[in-house]
Amino acid sequence: MSDRIAHAGLRGKVMTADEAAQFINHGDALGISGFTGAGYPKALPTALANRGKELHAKGEEFAVDIYTGASTAPDCDGVMAEADIIRYRMPYQGDPALRKSINSGKAKYQDIHLSHSALYIEQGFLPIDAAIVEVTRITEDGHLVPSSSVGNNVEWMDNADKIIIEVNSWQSEELEGMHDIYRIQHLPNRTPVPINAPGDRIGTPYIDINLDKVVAVVETNAPDRNSPFKPLDETSKAIAGHFLDFLEGEVRAGRLAYDQYIMQSGVGNVPNAVMAGLLDSKFENIKAYTEVIQDGMIDLIDAGKMTVASATSFSLSPEAAERMNNEAARYRENIILRPQQISNHPEVVRRVGLIATNGMIEADIYGNVNSTHINGSRMMNGIGGSGDFTRNAFVSSFISPSLAKDGAISTIVPFASHIDHTEHDAMVIITERGFADLRGLAPRDRVAKLISVAHPEYQPLLEEYYERALKTAPGMSTPHDLRTAFDFHVNMIEKGSMKG
Ligand code: COA
Repeated sequence: MSDRIAHAGLRGKVMTADEAAQFINHGDALGISGFTGAGYPKALPTALANRGKELHAKGEEFAVDIYTGASTAPDCDGVMAEADIIRYRMPYQGDPALRKSINSGKAKYQDIHLSHSALYIEQGFLPIDAAIVEVTRITEDGHLVPSSSVGNNVEWMDNADKIIIEVNSWQSEELEGMHDIYRIQHLPNRTPVPINAPGDRIGTPYIDINLDKVVAVVETNAPDRNSPFKPLDETSKAIAGHFLDFLEGEVRAGRLAYDQYIMQSGVGNVPNAVMAGLLDSKFENIKAYTEVIQDGMIDLIDAGKMTVASATSFSLSPEAAERMNNEAARYRENIILRPQQISNHPEVVRRVGLIATNGMIEADIYGNVNSTHINGSRMMNGIGGSGDFTRNAFVSSFISPSLAKDGAISTIVPFASHIDHTEHDAMVIITERGFADLRGLAPRDRVAKLISVAHPEYQPLLEEYYERALKTAPGMSTPHDLRTAFDFHVNMIEKGSMKG
């Protein structure tokens, strides 16, 4: 047995994943670990999927509700979705099999702000039966050392009746000391979260739990998902360049200094590319108060450009994950992993004054942003933490190529087909064509700026639409021609291109 389970009582609870899966019943609500492919349970999901398949073959029902930190992986969400055992899922996902299940009506999915997800349990909006949580190590005292993400693990274990712990010996033991675990008080006794700057530590490096609730401990040795990022192309380099121009403008305007940039950077290839752009910039002493640490931040730390990165999880390529596993003791000096209620806490986000930068599906000519749905209906991933940060940032920005799917799609559209971030929250929209700074502009004054960052192939169509909207709603604050506002999307659905 692994010496990573140092607590005598919990050593006595070690069993196989198949045995542990017997503690889970049809209809249970399970709070599991995992955030952007890091720190999710590696063995129980497959064991539950197999159990589901066996029961389904006998004509018996077996389906569960799954709550996570955020997205997991094919060997977690994927296997469970393929076995049709996910009945309800929240708050964020990104797995192709689960996405298919959600968009074919099999699994119900509630896309929730990440900072709200634990509150849904703590405030009694949703039940929780069991918690299944991956850790790096269990100490002699029974304290849990989290692995590569913290997510909602604390709240799931505090509120569940049963706890199943997976101890993953693939995770570096030197992660110990990187985490900062703090519990937010329940209403009506809630007090301010005492973080004034991204590097502040306010809690303990481990999670203490009620050990009586632990029903099983399962040993694993398996890597996180660790998907590679797309290589940097000309488009992402151009987006990074315009993002830097925007930051430089903030410095010239006296709103930012080269050593005062506090970053929030969203998931995805494009935000990761922007971080690569910062490597050669004049910005120093960069700090991050964000939810995910991607490769770009690790590179900035290695280059001495980033001094503090506060998040709740890693989301690394296989190469960067190997670096982290070999050198976690060094990275511990610069990195803090917190519960996602804290990494994404609106109060702290507003206080530290960060510049939020997230990917998007599309933005419309007035600045409403869609982060989640294709053509208004098909769920992509979810809002994740983009709402937590955008709404409360010092400056909020969204970045995207101006085209998707080989030019069949314009990411600047007349009317967003789903709105996650309203025109009231989105301040700057950046594509490879430039940046549209919407601050201080009335809706009609934003239109030219947003059309200027659209691809030239779509600019005449957007201008045509706006002229029509001005005729339909002359003089009005936010002119729209509702009869044709979604022509881009209808064309895409019916003809395979937004151009029609
Ligand atoms: N219509 C259809 N598909 C679109 C699209 C659009 N308007 N815009 C992008 N896509 C597709 C791309 O073609 C690509 O598809 P592929 O995987 O088949 O190649 C995919 O979406 C990803 O796009 P990409 O340009 O590589 O950007 P990304 O990896 O940065 O992801 C989002 C963009 C919007 C999907 C991603 O940022 C996201 O899920 N955001 C919501 C969550 C969030 O913001 N969290 C932030 C807090 S961490």
